[in-house]
Amino acid sequence: MIIIAFISQKGGVGKSTLSQALAVEAKKQKLSVLLDDCDSQQSTSLEWSKIKGKIPCQVFNSVKNIWPLSKNYDLIIIDGPARTSTGTLEIAKHADLLVQPTGASRADLIPAVKEFNALKKAGIPTKKLLFVLTRLSTPAEAEAAREYCQKSGYNYSPIALYEKASYRQVQNEGKAVSEVNYKSLRKQAKDLVNNILKYL
Ligand SMILES: Nc1ncnc2c1ncn2[C@@H]1O[C@H](COP(=O)(O)OP(=O)(O)O)[C@@H](O)[C@H]1O
Ligand SMILES: [Mg+2]
Repeated sequence: MIIIAFISQKGGVGKSTLSQALAVEAKKQKLSVLLDDCDSQQSTSLEWSKIKGKIPCQVFNSVKNIWPLSKNYDLIIIDGPARTSTGTLEIAKHADLLVQPTGASRADLIPAVKEFNALKKAGIPTKKLLFVLTRLSTPAEAEAAREYCQKSGYNYSPIALYEKASYRQVQNEGKAVSEVNYKSLRKQAKDLVNNILKYL
């Protein structure tokens, strides 16, 4: 059993988007998956899962309730809450990999690095921490953000996710960004989540 968690202090960075895409692609690889929605106020992933009903999803008010269930699945995907709570550290201790999606602006990157610094200080090994750049507009923006990640000393995904209306549209239909109609965008999203799986 593997636990992959998507965390960030910020909302809107792509935690739910990437959680859902990872769940869909892992299921295609015949893994038994549970998507754990830890943002009980918004329940984004739960609502999304109801549209197609293919990915099992549960909302958890307390992360402590996740661990007893995890032995029943090959992969537990945690769609984390949009804030740093004591729950984040608890998630970090149990997860095999902590993915932090972040936008490319300094306003996004500075707190994102601080978040990883705090986890490192709390004893979480840096090899469990991975940045994914999301909602990018241009390759130049991607390059500058990659450089920033590189300097931070934390691992970052070589594949990023661009901001595209079609990604939102496909999620509205209860599908994942890795199932979008446009071939190149689909490939980018698929490669991104498959690369996260390979990271383990
Ligand atoms: N790469 C992207 N391109 C376009 N829209 C995106 C992208 N990533 C996320 N979104 C949209 O932005 C909103 C917030 O994303 P979400 O994954 O729910 O963030 P979080 O879970 O971190 O709060 C959602 O409406 C989602 O569809
Ligand atoms: Mg969310």
